[in-house]
Amino acid sequence: KTHRITLIPGDGIGPEVSGAVVKILEAAGAATGVAFDWHPYDAGANAFEKTGEYIPKVLYDSIEKNRVALKGPVTTPIGGGFASINVTLRQKFELFANFRPVKSLPGLKTNYPDIDLVIVRENMEDLYAGLEHEVVPGVVQALKIITEKGSTRIAKFAFDYARKHGRKKIHAIHKANIMKLSDGLFLRCCRRISEGFPEVAYHEHIVDNTCMQLVMNPYQYDILLTENLYGDILSDLCSAFVGGLGLVPGANLGTECAIFEAVHGSAPDIAGKDMANPTALLQSAVLMLHHIDEPATAERVQAGLEQVYREGKTLTKDVGGTSGTKAFADAVLEAMEAP
Ligand code: NAI
Ligand code: MG
Repeated sequence: KTHRITLIPGDGIGPEVSGAVVKILEAAGAATGVAFDWHPYDAGANAFEKTGEYIPKVLYDSIEKNRVALKGPVTTPIGGGFASINVTLRQKFELFANFRPVKSLPGLKTNYPDIDLVIVRENMEDLYAGLEHEVVPGVVQALKIITEKGSTRIAKFAFDYARKHGRKKIHAIHKANIMKLSDGLFLRCCRRISEGFPEVAYHEHIVDNTCMQLVMNPYQYDILLTENLYGDILSDLCSAFVGGLGLVPGANLGTECAIFEAVHGSAPDIAGKDMANPTALLQSAVLMLHHIDEPATAERVQAGLEQVYREGKTLTKDVGGTSGTKAFADAVLEAMEAP
C-alpha cells in the first residue's frame, strides 16, 4: 500500500532529523510492504524567500488532500517577523489535541527510570491564540481564550484515550485559584467529562505545584490534561525525565487531519553539525504509522530504535553518546535488518 504524506522538513536541525527519519521509514516500509509518496514543502522563513508566503498555499492544499503530515521544527522569530507557523497550522486544520507520550527508552540511563506518562494538551486556545495588541504605548494586552467547546473536547480526548489504553488516572492541570473564570471553566468541563468515566481516577493539581511534584515524584502521574501554555511548558520539563528534548514525540490531532512532530524546536545551537538526535521525530513518525494503520511498519521502526538504545554504542551527544545524526540513523537501519 502507498501512503501520500506531506513532509515539512523544517529549519535548523529539521532537514537533518527529517532526512534520517525518511530514510528509516523507507527501509521499514520496504520490508513490510508499505510505500510512502512524500510531498515535501518548505514553511516559515525558507518558504518566504522562495514563494513570498510563510505557509505557501500549496502546502495547505497538500495537507488538506493527504490529511497526514510529518513535520520538522520551524524557527519562529521572537518579537517581530511572522506569526508562529505551528500555531497557524494548528488553527487552520483545527488540530485541537496535542498528544505527547513521555516514555523511557530501554537501556538509556536517566535519573528517572521507567517513566511512562502522557501529556494531553489543548492545542488551539489559551494565550496561544495569539491575540495581542498594544493598548497604549508601554501597555500591551494578551488575551487568554478558554472555551467550553475547546475544554470539553480536549477532556473527552484524554478520557477516551485513557479508556482505550487502560490508563488509570488523569490530572487536570490549572491555575483556577488565580484565573477563576478561564481556568475555572476548563476545570468544570474536565470534571463534567470525568463523570462519564468512573474507571479513570480524576484529580486536579495547580500548575506550579505540579512542577515541584513532577520533579519530586513523576510516578504519581499518568495522564496530564492541560491547557495550551501549561502543556507546552510541562512537555519540556517532562522530556528531561527520559533524556531530554531529543527523544519526545508528538501528534497534533484534529477530526480531519493530523500533523506529527517532535516536542523540540529547530535547535539553532546545533543545526548543520550532524549532532541532532532524530529519535523524537522518529518516534513521532511511529505515532504516524499507527495513525495510518500500519502497525507492522511502526513496530519494526520502534524495535530497531530500541535495539540501538539497548546496545548503547551509537548514541548522539544529547544522551551521552559520541555519534552523529547520520551514524545513529545508520545504526537504526542496521538494527532493523538484524534478524
Ligand atoms: P529547542 O527545542 O530548539 O532547543 C532547546 C535545547 O534542546 C537546545 O540546547 C537544543 O540543542 C536541544 N535540542 C532540541 N532538540 C534536540 C535534538 N533533536 N537533539 C539534540 N538536542 C536537541 O528550543 P529553542 O532553542 O528554545 O527554540 C529554537 C527555535 O525553535 C525557536 O525559533 C522556537 O520558536 C522554535 N520552536 C519550534 C517548534 C516547532 O516547530 N514545533 C517547537 C519549539 C520551538
Ligand atoms: Mg514547546
